[in-house]
Amino acid sequence: MASHPCESGPTNEPPILILSRDITVRAFRKTDAESLAKYGNDREMWLNGPDVVPYPFLVTDGQEYIKRALDTSKWLQSGDSWAGPARPGMYAIAKNDVAIGSIEFWAGEDIRARSANLGYWIGRDYWGQGIATEVVGEFVPWVFKTFPKIVRIDAEVHDFNPGSGKVLSKVGFTHLTTLDYAIWKDGKLAGLELWGMVRPELLR
Ligand SMILES: CC(C)(COP(=O)(O)OP(=O)(O)OC[C@H]1O[C@@H](n2cnc3c(N)ncnc32)[C@H](O)[C@@H]1OP(=O)(O)O)[C@@H](O)C(=O)NCCC(=O)NCCS
Repeated sequence: MASHPCESGPTNEPPILILSRDITVRAFRKTDAESLAKYGNDREMWLNGPDVVPYPFLVTDGQEYIKRALDTSKWLQSGDSWAGPARPGMYAIAKNDVAIGSIEFWAGEDIRARSANLGYWIGRDYWGQGIATEVVGEFVPWVFKTFPKIVRIDAEVHDFNPGSGKVLSKVGFTHLTTLDYAIWKDGKLAGLELWGMVRPELLR
């Protein structure tokens, strides 16, 4: 079926990453809301994420999530001088083209415009299979390649989430520090682990 002209642009582009085991990283589509709710409606997911992503996570929350991803005002221009096409920061992690998770980066503002923050999640049915390691390990170089102005990528992990720290360590992030008592989550104070990676060419 021919695509509607309103749906042209990155939404209909081929996946940005084609990985093993029928995993792709691709732009979100409005039709992903149901599968996002299926895999994102998990209290442990909420515990390890920001409160802006709610629990329970319903189809309407999936729709809001996708709306943020498709909000072109939040996209970042690619290229050496920020003059290339604007691209989304949020992408679906898909298995057989079904969204089972999400990976995203957000560039900072003002003097932090050349740093980005990374976030990701995968539905519980797919944990422990090395998928996050593969996806994050390929997504980070893609960001550096597509947005040459971005020079570092940081990630913040709740100190009760060893799995995510392990993923970051396996793909080459450095553990920078722990900010004790930095977050208030689920009615409790907890620490925040800061991880970072500098664009590799800058370190040579
Ligand atoms: C964290 C998360 C992305 C990991 O995804 P995953 O695909 O299961 O990760 P991988 O299979 O690539 O695992 C990477 C390593 O972490 C380890 N690991 C994964 N989950 C773990 C856990 N809960 N506790 C300890 N280690 C864990 C794996 O054993 C593996 O180590 P190994 O290679 O030595 O065996 C996934 O559990 C998730 O989405 N959690 C909820 C949301 C979240 O925490 N997002 C990150 C916010 S910063």
